[in-house]
Amino acid sequence: MAILLHIKPTPLETARAFADFWLEEMKNQQESQFSVALSGGSTPKLLFQVIAEDYGSRFDWSRLHLFWGDERCVPHAHPESNYGMTQEMLLSRLPDIRAGQVHAINCTDQPELEADRYDQLLRDFLPEFEGWPRLDLVILGLGEDGHTASLFPDRPDLWQSEQATAAVQHPESGQSRITLTLPTINHADVVAFLVTGEAKARRVADIINSEGDFRTFPAAQVQPRSGQVHWFLDEAAASLL
Ligand code: 6PG
Repeated sequence: MAILLHIKPTPLETARAFADFWLEEMKNQQESQFSVALSGGSTPKLLFQVIAEDYGSRFDWSRLHLFWGDERCVPHAHPESNYGMTQEMLLSRLPDIRAGQVHAINCTDQPELEADRYDQLLRDFLPEFEGWPRLDLVILGLGEDGHTASLFPDRPDLWQSEQATAAVQHPESGQSRITLTLPTINHADVVAFLVTGEAKARRVADIINSEGDFRTFPAAQVQPRSGQVHWFLDEAAASLL
């Protein structure tokens, strides 16, 4: 598998490089609809801010369909909601995105049922590739424990799941979450990590250099069927490569 590194000096330059990459991928893809699964947590905030402030007129927002790689099972108004963060940092600042283009996960009640609903939504909405819903782009973050989306090291069963999504619990907080499973991520057309900060450097090096306990890290299992995975890193996160 080809690991394509995109290393920039600062988080801001990394975010800009990612926005340019996203634009390029949309231009390269000929179909009208472009589906993206967004990452959550704090890292994408800068990307969304850069896009909202400087790329608003450059994206053809009418083509985009937004999904999430994972969601915390809290109300969308809750500070930990990935949808809520995206709404605040991006969607609220882009009037051209219609509600029908935004496919939020809402799992405050009965996460298992919401996982099933989202699984079916992905399968109904997206083209199929080798039996899996095919997203055009999956944006991934990286946890210091090597998790990505909400695929945590304690759930290797989700690496071979037959489901496109799963309801899980955060291994420390117990918080319920919905996540794409690994096969769904690996069947996306393009998969790109966006990781910044010194705190991630050890894990980034373990995974990219296949060092340490890398085999136990869900992020190291991201091996897209396309044969390549992109890593957008600032110099701090790349400092141990
Ligand atoms: C989430 C994520 C998760 C995140 C990493 C990194 O919902 O938390 O999708 O996989 O990308 O935990 O989080 P930070 O960007 O906050 O470091």
